[in-house]
Amino acid sequence: MSDSTSAIDIEKLTSLCKRRGFIFQSSEIYGGLASTWDYGPLGAELKRNVKDSWWKAMVWERDDVVGLDAAILMHPDAWRASGHLENFTDPLVECLQCNKRFREDHIDSVTCPECGGELSDPRLFHMMFKTHMGPVEEEAAIVYFRPETAQGIFVNFSNILTSTRKKLPFGVAQIGKSFRNEITTGNFIFRTREFEMMEIEYFVMPGEDEPVHEQWMQDCMNWYTDIGVTPENLRLRKHEDEELSHYAKATYDIEYKFPWGWGEIQGIANRTDFDLKAHMTMSGEKLTYFDEASGQHVIPYVIEPSLGVDRAVMTLLVDAYTEEETTAASGKTETRVLLKLDPSIAPIKVAVLPLSRNEKLVPLAKSVYDNIRKSRLIGGNVQFDDAQSIGRRYRRQDEIGTPLCVTVDFDSLDDDCVTIRERDSMNQKRVSIANLAGEISSLLIGD
Ligand code: GAP
Repeated sequence: MSDSTSAIDIEKLTSLCKRRGFIFQSSEIYGGLASTWDYGPLGAELKRNVKDSWWKAMVWERDDVVGLDAAILMHPDAWRASGHLENFTDPLVECLQCNKRFREDHIDSVTCPECGGELSDPRLFHMMFKTHMGPVEEEAAIVYFRPETAQGIFVNFSNILTSTRKKLPFGVAQIGKSFRNEITTGNFIFRTREFEMMEIEYFVMPGEDEPVHEQWMQDCMNWYTDIGVTPENLRLRKHEDEELSHYAKATYDIEYKFPWGWGEIQGIANRTDFDLKAHMTMSGEKLTYFDEASGQHVIPYVIEPSLGVDRAVMTLLVDAYTEEETTAASGKTETRVLLKLDPSIAPIKVAVLPLSRNEKLVPLAKSVYDNIRKSRLIGGNVQFDDAQSIGRRYRRQDEIGTPLCVTVDFDSLDDDCVTIRERDSMNQKRVSIANLAGEISSLLIGD
């Protein structure tokens, strides 16, 4: 992984993402829509791998977390109860000279960072997107695009408890889109108005919340390092009292060392019993847990690990982006660009490359490709690439982070063997076609 992320130029990364089909500006043919992004063929694979890895680690590999997929639109009273209607605001200041708007806590100067003009007094700007439900645009029909997925979990607490018969402590995990009308966006996909979240609400007995909070911080940090993020580029930071959200008793952020400085990639909050209590009061429904040991009904406390999928993707791309000096066959020094993505996350696991478009090589390469693509041992996308020289194809696969290339050459016609080339070391290994899927599988898993 990269030793220093400070050297990475975000412009270069953005351009690679567009050129290779990871991420495009949304509605580009209409001049683009500010800070909204579309994931292209490779980006869609990468994002899916991130979500799958998180779901596997947080739901499948644990026996205390179950899943949920709640609606984006919720009853407006849910947002009244959660405090979002009243409190989900950011302080906005406007330049009296150039009329640009900024989030007050995101700027260092007392004057406009763009033109030096005088700034207005701050006013609270509400960040929830509104829309109307049904054919009549009246005040009563206003609904909100959720700014977090968490509330879908709280309002379903009783449904989940009754249907799963889970005992405390247990958690509910959810992945889904959220929307925030952010005052300032930017740094590519770091801060956008539409983004995807992965959240867990982990319910515990009151009084047992603090050690569980500590454990979740560790579990979350481990997930980032397990998917290949450089540990030295990660840190935990405790929120100051004045930073805490209206619902939180204590929050820690996991931060990543981005080229522009440390930035939040995940929050792990202790939300106490704030949300369940608030929904009980607003709805009149009981959202309690019967504790057999004490014979009491209790309102559980909640520990909430919450992260943005897009920020995780951004972290992985920045962390994986590497430029290396190499010597070409001609003896010339070249710069090799590669994404050192962990194989579990890489959008393409293996590329099958015939040495040339020779009429004897291509059918063999195609049959190798078919076998690998359909093999249950691989568990990911496989690509066939026969365009341009083999050197250029290796560079292309390096640039999109493909861990392994399989080259079918003229010897393969006689010895039924192919060459596996490894992305980071560029080491090559000759293996028999009969054992290829197994070899690839152990190289990808790291056996
Ligand atoms: N339910 C808790 C919650 O919403 P948050 O700290 O506001 O907490 C959690 O958001 C995570 O969601 C952040 O750590 C970040 O990864 C992601 N996130 C928040 N706002 C975002 C935005 N505008 N664009 C992209 N990701 C965002």
